[in-house]
Amino acid sequence: MEPLLKWPGGKRWIAEELGLLYKRLQNKGVNGITEPFAGGASISFVVEPENVQLNDIISPLTDLYSEIKANDSFSLSGINILNTEDNYLKNREIFNQNIKSGTTEKNPALFYYMNRTGYRGMVRFNKLGEFNISFGNYAKPILLDDFSAYHQFLKRAEITNGCFQELKVKQSHMIFSDPPYDDGWVGYSENGFDMNKQTQHAHWLASHKNPIVTTNKATPRIVSLYKSLGFTVKTYSARRSISAKKNSGEKVKEMIAFLNIKPSDIKKICFLDD
Ligand SMILES: C[S@@+](CC[C@H](N)C(=O)[O-])C[C@H]1O[C@@H](n2cnc3c(N)ncnc32)[C@H](O)[C@@H]1O
Repeated sequence: MEPLLKWPGGKRWIAEELGLLYKRLQNKGVNGITEPFAGGASISFVVEPENVQLNDIISPLTDLYSEIKANDSFSLSGINILNTEDNYLKNREIFNQNIKSGTTEKNPALFYYMNRTGYRGMVRFNKLGEFNISFGNYAKPILLDDFSAYHQFLKRAEITNGCFQELKVKQSHMIFSDPPYDDGWVGYSENGFDMNKQTQHAHWLASHKNPIVTTNKATPRIVSLYKSLGFTVKTYSARRSISAKKNSGEKVKEMIAFLNIKPSDIKKICFLDD
């Protein structure tokens, strides 16, 4: 199925290829996917593995996934879904007031609406903890009225909210780890994601025996970090980057690194540079 949300840095376009890799690993006993940095979770939604763990530090995101998992009749019927700037700003205000008052039942629906109608599906909170992304002004945003397929899929998901370091990964899962990029836009969370966090993340991954796929920007320090930990490091050309300057013509090189996966399985992946 298509990912539920628009998400900055989403990996929808490599999802099918990673799905083929997942199938090869299934023959070796792998029976699920873990995404410690789920975001739009495009790999999991497209591949639809039999078991899935989705973790993210943004609580309105994991609350939405949890609500759809728990509620077989989740819908947008309790909110006004008109796609106008005026209505968007009203909904944003209700969402923020609900957080302050602790009455957040409608917030999953409001978060979904704002993801689809707000600017590029971005998530940003100001110092007061208020969601402050502006209206996207899209002609025809997708606003689903039937979430039952997502409910069916998310029923088999374990959804957690927190830092990746707290996540207990299932032994039989492939890990697809897609953290905020080095040198890139790290505005997903208040604390950002500096090089210290990048290093902690790489070491955290390397402490697992699971088959691991991780992506990042191919900066020299990231490439050497993953190489030093024994990962097989490859590059590919990004289709787009949220940090790339408009019309700069700059091709952003991305890194994709593998651990505990046979070279013959990596070789079959089509979008790699070498
Ligand atoms: C590049 S996005 C993931 C995109 C996803 N692969 C997709 O296809 O939509 C990175 C995600 O990491 C989350 N994140 C940032 N810091 C985190 C942390 N310390 N622990 C867990 N998640 C974090 C962000 O909220 C964001 O959703």
